[in-house]
Amino acid sequence: MAEEEPYRLYLREDQIPTQWYNLRADMPEPPEPMRLPNGKIAEAADIAPVFCDELVRQELDDETAWFDIPEEVMEMYKVYRPSPLCRAYNLERALGTPAKIYYKFEGNNTSGSHKLNSALAQAYYAKAQDLDKITTETGAGQWGTALSEAAAHFGVDLDVFMVKCSYNQKPFRRSIMRTFNATITPSPSDTTEIGRKMLAENPESTGSLGTAISEAVERAMNVPENKGRYQLGSVLNQVVLHQSIIGLESYTAMEELGVYPDIVIGCAGGGSNLGGLIAPFMRDKINGTHPDTRFIAVEPASCPSLTRGRYAYDYADTGQTCPLVKMYTLGNGFLPSPDHAGGLRYHGMSPVVSKLKHDGYLEAVAVKQTDVFAAAEEFARLETILPAPESAHAILQAIEEAKKCAETGEEKVILFGLTGTGYFDMFAYDAHRNGEMVDHVPTDEELEAGFATIPSIEGIQ
Ligand SMILES: Cc1ncc(COP(=O)(O)O)c(C=O)c1O
Repeated sequence: MAEEEPYRLYLREDQIPTQWYNLRADMPEPPEPMRLPNGKIAEAADIAPVFCDELVRQELDDETAWFDIPEEVMEMYKVYRPSPLCRAYNLERALGTPAKIYYKFEGNNTSGSHKLNSALAQAYYAKAQDLDKITTETGAGQWGTALSEAAAHFGVDLDVFMVKCSYNQKPFRRSIMRTFNATITPSPSDTTEIGRKMLAENPESTGSLGTAISEAVERAMNVPENKGRYQLGSVLNQVVLHQSIIGLESYTAMEELGVYPDIVIGCAGGGSNLGGLIAPFMRDKINGTHPDTRFIAVEPASCPSLTRGRYAYDYADTGQTCPLVKMYTLGNGFLPSPDHAGGLRYHGMSPVVSKLKHDGYLEAVAVKQTDVFAAAEEFARLETILPAPESAHAILQAIEEAKKCAETGEEKVILFGLTGTGYFDMFAYDAHRNGEMVDHVPTDEELEAGFATIPSIEGIQ
């Protein structure tokens, strides 16, 4: 069948954006400011011991709409970008839908996901600040892999705390990180105070992202001469800023095709790919150019921060060492069940994404992992990309929306973010094939136990 649009549209190298877009500058109200445990609004000096100076500047700036991408980062972006905007013709035909389905595929680099977009920026700023070491956590392993790759490129020493269940389940994730010279420690570990405390409370603990973050922050703070910093792969404003490259490229590519999305869909763990993908389209909704575009965040039913969480100030980590951000949260002590989409097992959500949801600009849905893997398998067979379980959350919702179009006959344009590949998730794919996968949906009582760990701050909440 002759089709006018290509299956994959690759922009030219000179069409890669040279600036990141900061949606906060155009939001009717910016997200709530970061605070310290005493309620005081965090200033640069308060968080500079933890994060690189330039990243602090980006984090706290709600006014500057465009940030130049450093030359050195641009050079590396060119190695794997522009990423393709794909038309899911095969999926459309299989669904018998009049909808046009597009996806922005970010899995086309060694780390296998969008995480490299922010990792390169963060490692670059660490190098520019002449640090001795950076530290981070990784859950599913994509962020750790991406930061390892970026740190190796810029010649920065990296320690990764990897959630223990992933460490055990994904040995080859470890191998890639080691290839890029990173040091990997399973978390909780006995190498930090907070890790030892967690192990004393529960020697069998298989870890959580919240605990791994605490361990990584502690390690960074103990690097001599204040030469260590911690880096986070999601949630923070700076990460959403870097990920705007996804949305900006999608925007240009869709302009070239002469289409505009009616619905934009992204999976949401800490909210960085979603926040980046939607940024320029959300600007159009906010300024009234395209007021009717729908934006949908898709999260796991096992870790439903946006759909069942509280909009409150909470710590980003279980050890309560990070500053507080206002977000949809299940409580920093919430322990997610072992869902296979490790990258979506996080108690909180980006303040930008949270604010958009709270103010009615963004919808959210929670889906079960058995349905997600059924969609992932169907997609793999039709589109020949094996999606990461996280990404497959967006696929499932795109399919749902396209099926509705098949019923109503509406020719909607659907855009979703395909954030990465799932080649290291074959235990999970096998579990699904073998019929061994179960859906964990927390009860209201279980959620209450998590909410009880949200701090009260005098005069604030
Ligand atoms: C492939 C993939 N997609 C999505 C996510 C979710 O992160 P975020 O919500 O920050 O985009 C992750 C996190 O690890 C991931 O690895």
